[in-house]
Amino acid sequence: MPDLSPTSLAASRGARAVAEPTLLPIDQERLWSDIAAGCEGCDDPLVRGLLATGIRNHASFANGLAALIGRKLGDRSVADDALSELVAEAFAADPHIVAAAAADLVAIRERDPATANYATPFLFFKGYHAVQCYRVAHWLWNNDRRYLALHLQSRTSELFAVDIHPAARLGRRILFDHGTGIVIGETSVLEDDVSLLQGVTLGGTGKNVGDRHPKVRRGVLIGAGAKILGNIELGEGAKVGAGSIVLESVPPFTTVVGNPARPVGTRHSALPAFTMDQMLPPIDYMI
Ligand SMILES: CC(C)(COP(=O)(O)OP(=O)(O)OC[C@H]1O[C@@H](n2cnc3c(N)ncnc32)[C@H](O)[C@@H]1OP(=O)(O)O)[C@@H](O)C(=O)NCCC(=O)NCCS
Repeated sequence: MPDLSPTSLAASRGARAVAEPTLLPIDQERLWSDIAAGCEGCDDPLVRGLLATGIRNHASFANGLAALIGRKLGDRSVADDALSELVAEAFAADPHIVAAAAADLVAIRERDPATANYATPFLFFKGYHAVQCYRVAHWLWNNDRRYLALHLQSRTSELFAVDIHPAARLGRRILFDHGTGIVIGETSVLEDDVSLLQGVTLGGTGKNVGDRHPKVRRGVLIGAGAKILGNIELGEGAKVGAGSIVLESVPPFTTVVGNPARPVGTRHSALPAFTMDQMLPPIDYMI
């Protein structure tokens, strides 16, 4: 007699087992030396320059990240060095920004099977870069330096095709996988441990003003191309299928799919953002 329990079905369909996620504050010194270690043994002359500019020339994670954001976002109106200094100022004024950046990096390595070390997302993942640029823009916005905040939003959108309003509120351990075509409106909230695939919109319906954007609770996974519209809530651990259009709140630990999205399957118990489990939940009926 085959075992048709939900656990067995999920296992047989290849649900990825992941290590316990890291929720504690990250030791940035150790993280920086791990990032540097990821570059050892690379002797390609062109890449050597890239690794020096990106990692080896900087004494700390915070310095390396400030330089990276300056290099990426600098343009003729606000140059690289001025931007790096601005980012360093934000980091010094609010150490939570760097702590969140370190936590995001560790979360990516834990959740993304394409990530072999910390150097890879730090240097090359634009979803990671976009979130860190947002974190600085959010600090500027809250400190009434709104044009600078909007400049960072605009440059981030131009470069990475990720448009996050600086007033939106994002938690820690956020993963934007592929980091392309993501739009997050002004009054959106993403709590800790949320994972978004490419092409996700957290937008208004166009029918409301004021608080009009989605509230995404802890550990939610939103599939590629999903559109979440209006001031609705995706409950803790909810999962949204790729291409869905979600117009109503989703209860915790529930999967929704389709257009307009509807619940499917049985309630799950793990946070899907941790496991990046993009499968439908086990069936709740037999024909
Ligand atoms: C279409 C839209 C304007 C709503 O129009 P509306 O006439 O007020 O529609 P309602 O919310 O009353 O919904 C009417 C029906 O259409 C459905 N519906 C609404 N928007 C829908 C959409 N985008 N896709 C599929 N169905 C949709 C609703 O589920 C409802 O179905 P029902 O009658 O079977 O219950 C709005 O939902 C929309 O899509 N706006 C675009 C928002 C956008 O692009 N935001 C991005 C900002 S970054």
